[in-house]
Amino acid sequence: MMDHSIKEIRETEQIARSQRLGFRHLLRVEESKAGSSAAIMVVRRMKAAAETGDALRLPGETLAFVGVKPGMVVAELFPAGGYYTRTISDVVGPKGKVYGIENAKWDKGEDAKMAAEPGHANVSIQLVKFGEFNLPQKVDLFWTTQNYHDLHVAEYGNLDIAAFNKHVYDALKPGGIYFILDHQANPGTNDAQIAKVHRIEKSQVIREVTAAGFKLVGEGNALHRPADDHTKMSSDPAIKGHTDQFMLKFQKV
Ligand SMILES: C[S@@+](CC[C@H](N)C(=O)[O-])C[C@H]1O[C@@H](n2cnc3c(N)ncnc32)[C@H](O)[C@@H]1O
Repeated sequence: MMDHSIKEIRETEQIARSQRLGFRHLLRVEESKAGSSAAIMVVRRMKAAAETGDALRLPGETLAFVGVKPGMVVAELFPAGGYYTRTISDVVGPKGKVYGIENAKWDKGEDAKMAAEPGHANVSIQLVKFGEFNLPQKVDLFWTTQNYHDLHVAEYGNLDIAAFNKHVYDALKPGGIYFILDHQANPGTNDAQIAKVHRIEKSQVIREVTAAGFKLVGEGNALHRPADDHTKMSSDPAIKGHTDQFMLKFQKV
């Protein structure tokens, strides 16, 4: 069964999109009627995101697609400031856990502060060498958003992608989920081009992850944006926030 708080958020997003209502107005209404404390936290986070112009990520749709639930143990690769870390932390709640894995070279000292924030004691951050991680327990979910393509960027660490995905497989409980959301690239985009556009082709991700033993169990289209021709770098101001993104859910079988 879907967590109630995620259901509320997802409905908010759907209304906002279908009726083209003012997003901030809608969130004010939603905050006043949100039933659970987790829902209130998630609505507040969305409101903050709306104010910084980042409401286009559809966290409710994304969390619902993945099936994040209270009590889950989650690893997040590259929190980068914690946009999703905080939201996942709110949804998994005090009985759950979020292990943030951050590249020590990218860290700006912000991620580690998250655990001290009210309600986020279930977050712990490890600063490690790019592509490495060491989790103290097996996880229900291994989550990475807008970063899988970086594993192909040679200057970050010349990673063995097959070994990395096998490491993820071993880190999950049986039946555990590996969730990958990333910016779509055009067919034939090679590693050198990935490093330039910061995108990766969905079919390449599927090939690599299933080769590690995972089964593809879901594809999410909420962030599919046909207007994006995939040629601009994902952070180019002309397309940032409006890139065509795919969501893939793999299961350890
Ligand atoms: C937009 S961030 C996404 C971060 C986070 N996973 C999220 O969903 O919000 C991804 C891009 O930022 C860059 N980047 C810079 N600093 C980073 C950090 N500390 N962690 C992750 N990505 C970082 C990477 O090269 C990557 O292509």
